[in-house]
Amino acid sequence: MSASEELERIAVKHATEATQLDKQGSRGLAIAKYQRAVEILLKLCALYPNSSQNYFYMEHVDSYRKRIRELQRQESRQEPIESAASGGEAKFEQLVLSEKPNVKWEDIANLSEAKRAIEESIIFPVKRPDLFPLGWPRGILFFGPPGCGKTLLAAAVATEIDATFFCVDAASIMSKWLGESERNVAQLFQEARRASMNGRPAIIFIDEIDSLVGVRHQEVGGEVRARNQFLKEMDGIIDKKKVLHTYIIGATNKPWALDEPFRRRFQKRIFVPLPGESARLEMFRIFSRNLNISDDVDFHDLAKMTEGYSGSDIRDNFQAAQIRLVREFFENGNPDDKEAKPRPLTMKDFRDIFRIRKPSVNQSMMGYYLKWSEEFQAA
Ligand SMILES: Nc1ncnc2c1ncn2[C@@H]1O[C@H](COP(=O)(O)OP(=O)(O)OP(=O)(O)O)[C@@H](O)[C@H]1O
Ligand SMILES: [Mg+2]
Repeated sequence: MSASEELERIAVKHATEATQLDKQGSRGLAIAKYQRAVEILLKLCALYPNSSQNYFYMEHVDSYRKRIRELQRQESRQEPIESAASGGEAKFEQLVLSEKPNVKWEDIANLSEAKRAIEESIIFPVKRPDLFPLGWPRGILFFGPPGCGKTLLAAAVATEIDATFFCVDAASIMSKWLGESERNVAQLFQEARRASMNGRPAIIFIDEIDSLVGVRHQEVGGEVRARNQFLKEMDGIIDKKKVLHTYIIGATNKPWALDEPFRRRFQKRIFVPLPGESARLEMFRIFSRNLNISDDVDFHDLAKMTEGYSGSDIRDNFQAAQIRLVREFFENGNPDDKEAKPRPLTMKDFRDIFRIRKPSVNQSMMGYYLKWSEEFQAA
């Protein structure tokens, strides 16, 4: 066993003990054990600064520190013991979206392929399961560069489809309590199955799914078990003999982190790319709905000039242009007069803002997405 493996083993041991003590309500001892685990993980990061594991170690460090603070707070207030286990359940309740996020299909530029996948895999089978003698896909994966609408799509699914929607951030399942993530996964699927008993679909949306199932050579504590639990639960859902309307939508901007067993269970894998010229044009129309735009603004021209910008870059740039305009109004206009309004945004404003604010997605990354897409896309 290498020195780093040995250190990791010790960190896991301390963390496991800490979680157990925490569950039993031994705050003081649990704090000390969490502290030891944190120290060792930090030491690992310091000794091997280039290790790819560090990101995961730091996630654990953050969650232990959070728990330490929480326990210290309870100690100082002499609150009744609230164990990590009961905290976990409270958190779980929050996963189910009771309010619809209110994002409509029309708010999403382009992405027709993704919308079609959702129709074919969820809307049609819910309406007419009898037309699908061979079953239908239950797992949909959206992958692609950051800021191009993956999370937005999921929000629109929740608004547009009458379903019970479970929204989960994979990192929070995993980094929560070592050894409990597996139980969280099981509980999540159980709730979803229960919700879909009456024929109304249940959709589990897992954002940043790569952190749940990443390909890692060394894994900390319960991660292997959580991952296996996830695969098992997905098999239960895919079972063609059952007409159960439970669906999983996963989103990731690191599709290459998913390994083969995982990829296979997402029968639909849809690339959500950077917006092309016509998609950008549509975005300009969406984002300028409530802005005052001058007649000289030519969005066609602007769409030609903005190759490489993601949807969120474009939204942020529109916002930045508007903020600059408001600043100008506050400095030179008459903001105290409620009737007074800033001038409209001109083509120059947009040109300026796109000149000083560059795309956030690294062009060289695009090659990786295309390559993965060529190899594994399943639309
Ligand atoms: N196709 C689109 N149509 C309209 N708005 C978009 C689109 N893509 C992105 N946006 C804007 O960018 C914001 C961020 O998009 P979103 O959160 O969906 O990105 P993402 O693909 O999930 O990114 P990440 O991989 O970083 O999670 C959205 O809230 C929206 O304002
Ligand atoms: Mg997202």
